[in-house]
Amino acid sequence: MKVLVVHGPNLNLLGTREPEIYGSGTLDDVNASIEKAAAELGCEVEFHQTQREGEIIELLHAGMGTIDGALLNPGAYAHTSRAIADAVRSVGYPVVEVHLSNIHAREPWRRRSVTAEAAVGIVSGFGAGSYVAALHALRSVVDA
Ligand code: DQA
Repeated sequence: MKVLVVHGPNLNLLGTREPEIYGSGTLDDVNASIEKAAAELGCEVEFHQTQREGEIIELLHAGMGTIDGALLNPGAYAHTSRAIADAVRSVGYPVVEVHLSNIHAREPWRRRSVTAEAAVGIVSGFGAGSYVAALHALRSVVDA
């Protein structure tokens, strides 16, 4: 199983960004956790991080025909981007939405994710463990 992992805006700052919410681990630490789980599950993983909405869409499009599924943390675009939601609906492979924090336990505007409405499912609130759980969930969706 080939998996695309897309981290959205500001996630490059993990480790120093609001550590009381996102923890002290860096994006490299998060990717190492995903890599470890991927090795156990026999998955091949490709990592990307971008601040740009359009680049998230281009990365999702580029996966068409080459990957089996994606883990997407859209960052704050989750709450606003109909364009990313439409891309998730259009690519034809399963996308699991991931959030480090529990978006339902935060400010009211974070409680709605328009991109999650297009995703196969969402894992939110477990830090790096959200990505690991999402990878297991993706594996079961792809294998079904
Ligand atoms: C986030 C949650 C979003 O609301 C926020 O804008 C982020 C990070 C998370 O992983 O918890 O940038 O996606």
